[in-house]
Amino acid sequence: MTKSLQAIRGMHDILPAQVALWQHVEDTVREVLTSYGYAEIRTPLVEVTALFHRAIGAVTDIVEKEMYSFDDRNGDSLSLRPEGTASCVRAALEHGLLIQPQRLWYRGAMFRYERPQRGRYRQFHQIGVETFGLAGAEIDLELMLLTARLWRRLGLTDLRLELNSLGDAEERAAYRAQLVTYLSAHADQLDADSQRRLTTNPLRVLDSKHPATQEIVAGAPTLLAHLGAETRSHFEQICAGLDAAGVSYQLNPRLVRGLDYYNRTVFEWVTDALGAQGTVCAGGRYDGLVAQLGGKSVPAIGFAMGLERLVEVLAAAGQMPDSAVDVYLVAVGAAAQQAAPVVAERLRDAVPGLRMLTNCGGGNFKNQFKKADKSGAQFALVLGETELAENRFGLKSLRLDSEQQSFTFEELTAFLTAHLTV
Ligand code: HAM
Repeated sequence: MTKSLQAIRGMHDILPAQVALWQHVEDTVREVLTSYGYAEIRTPLVEVTALFHRAIGAVTDIVEKEMYSFDDRNGDSLSLRPEGTASCVRAALEHGLLIQPQRLWYRGAMFRYERPQRGRYRQFHQIGVETFGLAGAEIDLELMLLTARLWRRLGLTDLRLELNSLGDAEERAAYRAQLVTYLSAHADQLDADSQRRLTTNPLRVLDSKHPATQEIVAGAPTLLAHLGAETRSHFEQICAGLDAAGVSYQLNPRLVRGLDYYNRTVFEWVTDALGAQGTVCAGGRYDGLVAQLGGKSVPAIGFAMGLERLVEVLAAAGQMPDSAVDVYLVAVGAAAQQAAPVVAERLRDAVPGLRMLTNCGGGNFKNQFKKADKSGAQFALVLGETELAENRFGLKSLRLDSEQQSFTFEELTAFLTAHLTV
């Protein structure tokens, strides 16, 4: 027997029953971003591998072990994008968008060969935001306030904002040396991964999940204590702005992020509702990346949210938007069946926005009413021989215990229009 074909491990179909919630999240994010003046950009799913090596960093988990890379028929090494920031910077540079400030956003699938678990997939979806040419703390604050607004719009109340500053390059280098001295003195108590990172990427030791390492890390010097005057002031302006706007946050000196391009502000929105993979949105400043990828020095900051995680939090909170249609058109008898599609078109013209399913495949009244009920529609619109002969329409609520009403076409459109605006 042939083996049944299945989706690849860690890559999921999003089925019709779940799509309404996805669309609700996507539409809400798009509306909020548009209201802040952000413009959408769409970049390819595949880029040259070197882009991610240079942007994300050669000794990050993503580049070391999580990329889907392959040689194309030309022998060029390509990769499925593991994130959107690198592509966005590449596209902005390539098309000369960086001569003035930009506020961009994107959405789409990202690919990482991670060990799949709840909230962690090999194909997942992000909506991300990247801003360019804005150096001041106002934009850092705007991004956090914008996300806070988004959570309110989505009805998410239990997300926690965690905040840190990674300083500028020199501050981080000086801190890194101190951290290595401290951690080296405890090297034998660190887990194997952290021992390796001690030489490759010591800041990542700070967010180790290993309990013994966490104990050592608890006593480590913090970067926040090593910030220079300018970086400190930048960070304090953000904190003051959040206070003034009434958005609460927690300073997390262990927040370092898994990608190398960050400097100064880093932040994450975290929930306890998803177990270990609780970060639903994460980002930070990356003032050095544009120059690193061949452009002039352009300050930048952005974030990305994981849609699977957001959808899961909303589903757990019992939020499921109503995706049912308003009307199910029941047409009984050969003449009514034949007339139904044309009547439906007239009705769609007269009542814009009406969600209507038309019965296909015939059936008697009972049978069609069963299907109407199952569709979740509010009303059954009845077109039988009598209605056809009298040029009238029957309308029966499928949700309330009320009598079927008989309407002319004009009465019907007036009724349905009023129903839609309630
Ligand atoms: P990231 O922290 O790697 O940052 O990913 C951002 C968000 O994407 C995470 O907080 C999470 O919600 C979601 N995510 C990441 N990996 C997975 C996965 N394997 N399965 C499900 N969801 C996942 C970035 O990607 C940066 N590009 C964000 C950024 C934009 N920084 C500046 N601009």
